[in-house]
Amino acid sequence: MEKIVFEDIALDYRESNGTVFNALDGVSFTVNEGEFVSIIGSSGCGKSTILSVLAGLNEPKSGSYRIDGAETRGTGKNRGVVFQHYSLFPWMTIRKNIEFGIKQNFPKQSKKELAEKADLYLKKVGLKGFENRYPSQLSGGMQQRAAIARTLAMETDILLMDEPFGAIDAKNRIILQDLLLDILDTADVKKTIIFVTHDVDEAILMSDRILFMKNKKIEKDINVPFPRPRKRNELLERSGFRQFRQRIVNLFYFDEDEKQDFQEGEGI
Ligand SMILES: Nc1ncnc2c1ncn2[C@@H]1O[C@H](COP(=O)(O)OP(=O)(O)OP(=O)(O)O)[C@@H](O)[C@H]1O
Ligand SMILES: [Mg+2]
Repeated sequence: MEKIVFEDIALDYRESNGTVFNALDGVSFTVNEGEFVSIIGSSGCGKSTILSVLAGLNEPKSGSYRIDGAETRGTGKNRGVVFQHYSLFPWMTIRKNIEFGIKQNFPKQSKKELAEKADLYLKKVGLKGFENRYPSQLSGGMQQRAAIARTLAMETDILLMDEPFGAIDAKNRIILQDLLLDILDTADVKKTIIFVTHDVDEAILMSDRILFMKNKKIEKDINVPFPRPRKRNELLERSGFRQFRQRIVNLFYFDEDEKQDFQEGEGI
């Protein structure tokens, strides 16, 4: 079933001096219910802008989008957002941050229910025992876990994640990727996820489909042909993984995905 449909969305940013900057120019794509879709593309191509439209933070100038079949505008309780920079309130403890998120979507919950739900998600992300700390008293990776816990605890069926692990060191990034995969694989209700990343391996590991963005629109929509549940090491050993990865890398370097003679560079 179609969960999110973007139809020919265009968006302009208006700068304070009156200049207009066109950021999206005819963006169309569909995400089905329960799918994990990554958006990749060069810096500045408009990935975050797509998420901002979906989160209701920016209005397109033309085109339309539907969520669950209904034309949508503005913010909504069916969408949770995780940003690259842990968007926790610094003046609240981790527990209060998570409870705040829950209250947004479940204003009628009792104190006991709030505490129980916060505990459940603190445990899921491995932060039990740290709940009374303030964000500044946690490492970057732990803060991002708390931000993920807060968004998950809102129990939205759509998750919008903008480079959620972008500022995390390599080891913690792996831990958080595995954690998110595990939470999603074992969730009672399948979530629909749009995930922005610069990391090709992360996109392949996590996604059912990868959307490659260029020239202010979605240029390629690529199915990730590896079965779920995915385990990092098994995936690396699968026949076809290398060629597939190469095809995605080539999108960035050669503007095409057919070339096979690319020698792998560093830092990809
Ligand atoms: N508030 C704004 N006002 C004017 N221009 C903006 C604004 N926000 C973004 N832009 C411009 O719109 C374009 C798309 O920005 P966006 O943040 O969506 O890119 P991105 O693909 O997420 O990049 P990155 O990978 O670096 O995060 C960029 O050229 C950016 O400079
Ligand atoms: Mg961005």
